[in-house]
Amino acid sequence: MSLPIGIHDLSFASTEFVLPHTALAAHNGTDVAKYHVGIGQQSMSVPAADEDIVTMGATAAAPLVDRCGKDRIRTVVFATESSIDQAKSAGVYVHSLIGLVPSCRVVEMKQACYAATAALQFAIGLIRRDPSQQVLVIASDVSTYEPDSPGEATQGAAAAAMLVGADPALVRIEEPSGLFTADVMDFWRPNYREAALVNGRESVGAYLRAVEGAWKDYTKQGGRSWEEFAAFVYHQPFTKMAYKAHRHLLSLCGRPADRDTLERDLGRTTAYNAVIGNSYTASMYLGLATLLDQADDLTDRPLAFLSYGSGSVAEFFAGTVAAGYRTHLRTGANHEVIARRRPLDHAGYRALHAWSLPADGGDHSTPAQTTGPYRLAGVSGHKRLYETR
Ligand code: COA
Repeated sequence: MSLPIGIHDLSFASTEFVLPHTALAAHNGTDVAKYHVGIGQQSMSVPAADEDIVTMGATAAAPLVDRCGKDRIRTVVFATESSIDQAKSAGVYVHSLIGLVPSCRVVEMKQACYAATAALQFAIGLIRRDPSQQVLVIASDVSTYEPDSPGEATQGAAAAAMLVGADPALVRIEEPSGLFTADVMDFWRPNYREAALVNGRESVGAYLRAVEGAWKDYTKQGGRSWEEFAAFVYHQPFTKMAYKAHRHLLSLCGRPADRDTLERDLGRTTAYNAVIGNSYTASMYLGLATLLDQADDLTDRPLAFLSYGSGSVAEFFAGTVAAGYRTHLRTGANHEVIARRRPLDHAGYRALHAWSLPADGGDHSTPAQTTGPYRLAGVSGHKRLYETR
């Protein structure tokens, strides 16, 4: 049997603020049931002016090094589609903020919401070469759409950090993977734009085609049979999307998509995403955190993962939950990440949405809004300046 490799520790972070969908609905004159039921979202995380993908990534990663140490981390992979720099990896800032050793490689990866799964597979390959090493994978994103566009209700922000290593305490990631790529324009963000462009209907259809393609390849590669999975963890741009995808796969496999089946397979994966919103690369891993925190004992049970990134790439793979995983969970801290956010009214949300870091090359301080451990203190000569509390 090959050496088990997978997710040893998992932590996530989100933002200082939250906008309840009731406030958005009241402003738009939309029936709030469209948000709560139609897309399955209750609220969305909104970053403060002094938060970004780096501060969230460092906040998510710091508890991992506090618990597991730094010495074995020789690689950091930062996955994001809301990158802050075209050249420098956001991971280098995090490496510095959390005090990792210099003998470490750091790189940023991108393929829309899929990139964290590519990072995880890259990490597994490195650990297969040298099982004494650990890889820190950070998925961090701020999802931004134009105000008053259909995508607006599916914004959000969060970072998930995973320590990947041999003999993992949480989930052993298995081979094979089912893969799928198709060149589609369902969602994209040209370099000159802050907000993403999305063709909502096309993105739902592209997601379903990718799920189908990845599942078919998974079975062709000799993967597990459907009945073996205790739960299905999907990428969740909005939680209703996971239900649409699962219904699609159930129908493809000739299985009934009744309410009990859907709740058993997915019901315990959506709670965190429903209140955080779309966190792009982090979303599926927040789904895993929700499942591990909420489900009855999953020891030795296989889980199915469906990672999707617009554009589009998908991967279907399995992971088995390790014995003793419950002693490694961060359930209390995860609840606190959600509970600590301060509610915004609609005007406050709009002000933050319109705010952006000055781009004139001057010296600028950012308003001190966040109460988290790391903050974006300002910018000077086009360089972002971070500080630790
Ligand atoms: N009560 C309950 N449900 C309601 C409702 C109400 N009052 N009003 C509408 N709905 C339902 C609709 O029937 C629809 O459900 P369905 O998809 O199961 O048919 C759902 O709510 C959404 O309504 P719709 O009119 O399609 O919404 P929209 O045009 O505002 O767009 C998205 C919704 C999700 C397509 C849009 O928010 C979007 O583009 N988000 C970005 C998606 C994305 O991130 N994609 C890239 C990553 S995969």
